[in-house]
Amino acid sequence: MTQRLLIRRAGLADVTALWAIEKASFPSPWSRWSFLAELGHGNSHTLVAGPSPPHPWQTWGYIIFWVVLDEMHILNLAVHPEHRRRGLARRLLAEGLDQARTLGAELAWLEVRPSNLSALALYESFGFKTVGRRPRYYDDTQEDALLLTLDWSEAGNNSGEGEERPA
Ligand SMILES: CC(C)(COP(=O)(O)OP(=O)(O)OC[C@H]1O[C@@H](n2cnc3c(N)ncnc32)[C@H](O)[C@@H]1OP(=O)(O)O)[C@@H](O)C(=O)NCCC(=O)NCCS
Repeated sequence: MTQRLLIRRAGLADVTALWAIEKASFPSPWSRWSFLAELGHGNSHTLVAGPSPPHPWQTWGYIIFWVVLDEMHILNLAVHPEHRRRGLARRLLAEGLDQARTLGAELAWLEVRPSNLSALALYESFGFKTVGRRPRYYDDTQEDALLLTLDWSEAGNNSGEGEERPA
């Protein structure tokens, strides 16, 4: 595919697509209401990836994060199965980290399942480090969560940015 990728802020018109991607991506998906609530929350940011105009308006993936004071918390990241391995998550994460830094974040953090090797590889390629484990964090499988952080005050971070690829 040679369509150029557009990263933009989500709006209400994206919610149906966000929820469809969510249900296709997670064993215990967020509710539709959760996406609406994030769109209405002042600290929350939802970015979506889709094709650039003049291609038809579509929603292929998203990242949801909060920025509070100097911390960024990444709550959700997913790409529709039909659009994976094309660099969309990398672009979404790079743009989210960039926006959070602009808003004053000094530290980014997230939880991830230890079994989610693709997500772990993505986060590690941006310089995220495992700093803790939350026992039985996930209700559905009782799996622990790994706590990952990216501390911009540390020297030598690899941002992973600038690796733009056609979607
Ligand atoms: C994890 C996820 C968001 C990656 O999306 P994506 O758009 O396919 O990822 P990208 O194409 O941008 O890949 C970026 C990097 O992620 C890693 N990665 C992505 N998919 C991978 C896979 N199937 N196996 C191993 N590594 C993978 C690689 O390091 C990759 O870099 P590379 O292409 O240079 O090897 C996607 O698989 C997904 O939506 N999974 C279900 C939801 C989920 O687990 N979200 C994360 C919750 S913490």
